[in-house]
Amino acid sequence: MTLERPSRRTALTLLAVAGLSLVVNLVFGAFKIVRPDGGNGWQADGSISLPTPREQSAVSVEEAIADRRSRRTYSDRALERRELGQLLWATQGVTDRARGFRAAPSAGALYPLEVYVVVGSQGVEGLQSGVYRYRPGRHELGRGRTGDVQPELRAAAIDQEAVEEAAVDIVLCAVDERTTGKYGERGRRRYVPMEAGHAGEHLYLQAESLGLATVSIGAFRDDRVRDILEAPATQRPLYIFPIGGRAQ
Ligand SMILES: Cc1cc2nc3c(=O)[nH]c(=O)nc-3n(C[C@H](O)[C@H](O)[C@H](O)COP(=O)(O)O)c2cc1C
Repeated sequence: MTLERPSRRTALTLLAVAGLSLVVNLVFGAFKIVRPDGGNGWQADGSISLPTPREQSAVSVEEAIADRRSRRTYSDRALERRELGQLLWATQGVTDRARGFRAAPSAGALYPLEVYVVVGSQGVEGLQSGVYRYRPGRHELGRGRTGDVQPELRAAAIDQEAVEEAAVDIVLCAVDERTTGKYGERGRRRYVPMEAGHAGEHLYLQAESLGLATVSIGAFRDDRVRDILEAPATQRPLYIFPIGGRAQ
C-alpha cells in the first residue's frame, strides 16, 4: 500500500489548526476560572462556602406539603454539600440582600435564630464530623468543635435513635434578647418559638422537595444540647432536626 503524500495545502491547514489549538490552550489555560476556595469549599479563614441555592424545582409547594411526613429512619449515604446548603438556605438564608430579610419571617426582622449543624461521621461529603454554625449573610459555615458528637446529642435528646442515625442534625437555637429588646416578654414566650416553627417548617418542606428525610425533635435537655454545641449561655436550643437520605 502506498501512502499519498499530503498536499501542501493540507499540510498548511493541519499546521494552522495545531497552532490555533496551542494558542487557545495557552490563553484559556492561563485564565482558567478557579474558585477562591479551590472548589472544595474550604476558604483561607477556615470557613466553608456552600453552593448557591436553587430557587426552582420539579416539586411544587403543594406536593411538598401533601407528602411531608416526619421520617425517623435514614439511609447510610452522606449528604452532598449542595443539599446541606439548600436546607440551610430554606431555614434561615438571606433572600432579600438589599434589606437583609431571610427565608422565614421574623418579628421586627430581628432574627433571633442561630442555626448549628452537627455533622456525623461521613455525614456530609468533604466535611469533617463536628459542629458548624451557619452564617446566613455569607451563606457559609463557620467551624466549631471537631469530632463526632452525634452519640452525645442522641443521649441529650432522651436517647432518640434518629439523632445519631441521621447524616446531620440541624439545631435551631434562639438568642431571645434580640427580640425581647423590642417586644419584651411577649417576644420570648411567643414570637421566638413561633419563628422556630416557621423556620422548622421550611426545613421540613425543603427536605421533602430534596427527597430527604427529617423529623422535628423537641424532647431534649436544653443545657446538655447547649454544652455539646459549645453555644453561649445566651442561646436557647429549641429544635433538633436529624436529616439524611430516605431509608429504602
Ligand atoms: C413541637 C414538636 C416537637 C416534636 N418533638 C418530637 C420528638 O421529640 N420526637 C419525635 O420523634 N417527634 C417529634 N415531633 C414530631 C411529631 O411526632 C410528628 O409531627 C407527629 O407525629 C405528626 O406526624 P407528621 O409530622 O408525619 O405529620 C415533634 C413535633 C413538634 C411539632
